[in-house]
Amino acid sequence: MKKKRPINILFIASEAAPLIKVGGLGDVAGSLPKALKNLLPNQLSGNELDIRLVIPFHSMINQKLENIQLVSSFLVKHSHGNIPARVFLTSVEGVPVYLIEGGSILSDQNVYSSNPEYDAKKYIFFSIAALEMVKNINWHVDIIHANDWHTAITCYDLKLRKVTDPFFRNTKSVLSMHNMPYMGAGSERILNEFGLPNCPCTDLPEWARSIPLPIGMYAADFLLTVSPNYANEILTPDYGCGLQDFLNKRKDSLSGILNGLDESKWDPKIDNTLHFNYDSTQLDVRLKNKLALQTEFGLEKDDTIPLFIMVTRMDQQKGVDLAISALRMIADSSWQAILLGTGDPVIESACRSLEVEMPSKVRSVIRFDLNLSKRMYAGGDIILIPSRYEPCGLTQMIAMRYGCVPLARSTGGLKDTIIDEDNSNQNNGFLFSEPIPEIMAQTLIRAISDYSNRQKWQIIQSNGLHTDFSWEKSAIEYANIYIDLIEGER
Ligand code: GLC
Repeated sequence: MKKKRPINILFIASEAAPLIKVGGLGDVAGSLPKALKNLLPNQLSGNELDIRLVIPFHSMINQKLENIQLVSSFLVKHSHGNIPARVFLTSVEGVPVYLIEGGSILSDQNVYSSNPEYDAKKYIFFSIAALEMVKNINWHVDIIHANDWHTAITCYDLKLRKVTDPFFRNTKSVLSMHNMPYMGAGSERILNEFGLPNCPCTDLPEWARSIPLPIGMYAADFLLTVSPNYANEILTPDYGCGLQDFLNKRKDSLSGILNGLDESKWDPKIDNTLHFNYDSTQLDVRLKNKLALQTEFGLEKDDTIPLFIMVTRMDQQKGVDLAISALRMIADSSWQAILLGTGDPVIESACRSLEVEMPSKVRSVIRFDLNLSKRMYAGGDIILIPSRYEPCGLTQMIAMRYGCVPLARSTGGLKDTIIDEDNSNQNNGFLFSEPIPEIMAQTLIRAISDYSNRQKWQIIQSNGLHTDFSWEKSAIEYANIYIDLIEGER
């Protein structure tokens, strides 16, 4: 029997760990291709996947690479003069990674800027170049998997090229939405300069027809969100960002797959940044980590006081303001809190004010500090995640893996990963519904009360530690979608 050729998949993203990581997208683009690559043919109905990743050759990547080779160079059409692109190939943990250089990619210091047109110029160039590269290296790609607005234009360009270019006739595209409100607005003129017409789709509201994410949503063969619950939420006006009617029409081509956690990278048993390592059978060792944290931050050393932590980007989405108000409401109870993160200066300064107001209870650490975050996961009792929306969320999964119990808003992927039911032995955290400080405060009080019941608490922690967040399960779901698309079943 003739051996089937592998299914060729190009995963395209603006960032991918460990080469370059700014946010959760970087974690996903760093882990999912690897997880797909590790699937065995018997998990894929006999198929094999040839998965490769492409990201921009950001200037910060340079020094991390040992063996790269130039594999392709070409011009990307532009009305002010065609732009040269060069593609390099390297490999990260067994996954081939293409790095595209050209336009403003290499000269730019940051992955994202605060200037929408500037980012549009970079990412629209990148999105088009990725497709051009596939043709240039003559790789017959079956699935292009784009992520967020930065690469959504690849799906649109593909749809346009399919009409005239037989090379792409059988290529399908998938678009994952990690954060819907970021659509790439401000790209209109740039799209034009790269020769891309406004989107003809009349199901899209008019304002959306020249914005990358909605155009990509129109063009992609299949749409994905990073949790099942978020896929439902975006069909409603509260979360749909004005595209809910359009999305309802595309409902049959929309699904949500929960992000996984790279369990080898987040493991309290071998994490060498911790003072004391432990596994799920040694929860008492966490107490030593908690005392070390209390010492480090000059908080009262007392294990009976519940220690809240927050590890977050400080922006509107993450609801830090809700947490601050809720903590103020329970000022009379006994607790401590360490807040870690950077972002919006207004939110940062609200955290600092809370520390000034409650010096015996609160510490605010306004910086990005991965090692400290790990010590906090390992020593904190309860992590606060009051997000206004959360497409998936990674911190709740990391926290649970470290035995730190999540207290979160019941939204998006938080709702898919945290169980909080009346009288259940399965609970692994605490959820509250409305983004209202009073309601969060009530939930904090409930958690404090459960914390004082050692036996109950250990069950909650242990449930979290045993929840399966491995990538393998999700990777199989992705692979099934790719296979169905190729076989014309979606
Ligand atoms: C975005 C979302 C977050 C998600 C991440 C990775 O950062 O806000 O919820 O976990 O993307 O998909």
